[in-house]
Amino acid sequence: MKILLTGSEGQLGTDFRLVCGEKHEITAHDIDLDIRDRRVVADRVREVSPDLVVNAAAYTNVDGAESDELEAFRVNALGAQNLALACQSGDIPLLHVSTDFVFSGEGTVPLTEFDRPDPRGVYGRSKYAGECYVTALLERYYLCRTSWLFGVAGGNFVKTMLRIGREKGTVQVVCDQEGNPTYSRDLAAKLLEIIDSGAFGIYHVSNSGSATWFEFAREIFEIAGMDVEVSPVTAEEFGSPAPRPAYSVMRGLALELAGIPPMRHYREALADFILRDLPAWEQEAGSS
Ligand SMILES: NC(=O)c1ccc[n+]([C@@H]2O[C@H](COP(=O)([O-])OP(=O)(O)OC[C@H]3O[C@@H](n4cnc5c(N)ncnc54)[C@H](OP(=O)(O)O)[C@@H]3O)[C@@H](O)[C@H]2O)c1
Repeated sequence: MKILLTGSEGQLGTDFRLVCGEKHEITAHDIDLDIRDRRVVADRVREVSPDLVVNAAAYTNVDGAESDELEAFRVNALGAQNLALACQSGDIPLLHVSTDFVFSGEGTVPLTEFDRPDPRGVYGRSKYAGECYVTALLERYYLCRTSWLFGVAGGNFVKTMLRIGREKGTVQVVCDQEGNPTYSRDLAAKLLEIIDSGAFGIYHVSNSGSATWFEFAREIFEIAGMDVEVSPVTAEEFGSPAPRPAYSVMRGLALELAGIPPMRHYREALADFILRDLPAWEQEAGSS
């Protein structure tokens, strides 16, 4: 299959390219194909004429979005609209990636694809606007929501914890927000299974198991074999600029309905990431 991939240098984009290997013919673009530019996007999609567009590009700075609303909406809402319009004209399906932050986080049971989004922060609202464009403009889409990503490329919570742990030996971590940590390589592999199924629709695609950031941090240090003092703080005490869902644990009901196996537990994925894939990635980066 010929796939046009956006956001190819990000966490997911990098792992999507890796996991695809030779299986699909990927035309990869990052910021060189600015999804904010409607004409550029339309021209490139027409030129490549792919069988599928995969959008892994996004404005992902959750706190930054609070003071940069226009930019968050330009990329996450209008960028998704531009891709959906280009796909609509070429009758090309779109796989668009979204987030658990489209939910308010006020519930207490895992959220399915049939639950109603109600985003609170700017990032979540901009991502939800992108979802709305995709679902309104296209009949053939995979809208895949994921959560709490970590991967070899770019910054993420796991890398931040390992760095702070090494530098300071102590860290304060939020203990009243719960979600599904997800390895972007596992996510990429599951996206390929969804694509192979041909079953269009909305999917929740996260590793199994849930944790608070505090619990997740403790597991990171345990797997890494680091003796770091982790202290719990509330989100209010921590004082991030952006509101985040208190409970955004997702259930992959659509995967179950499509007969696609659930993703493995995040702890197993975290161990592969910390003990195998991240050191290999860093070694390769160091030697090149
Ligand atoms: N990260 C998470 O924890 C998380 C959680 C839930 C859902 N998601 C969603 O999962 C998807 C992938 O996230 P990720 O963590 O892989 O993101 P990421 O690492 O931030 O990668 C996004 C990529 O998109 C690029 N980009 C930004 N603006 C662009 C534009 N206007 N045109 C083209 N490319 C642009 C970025 O380039 P620069 O680096 O140069 O800006 C970056 O390479 C996104 O849809 C995100 O919303 C992420």
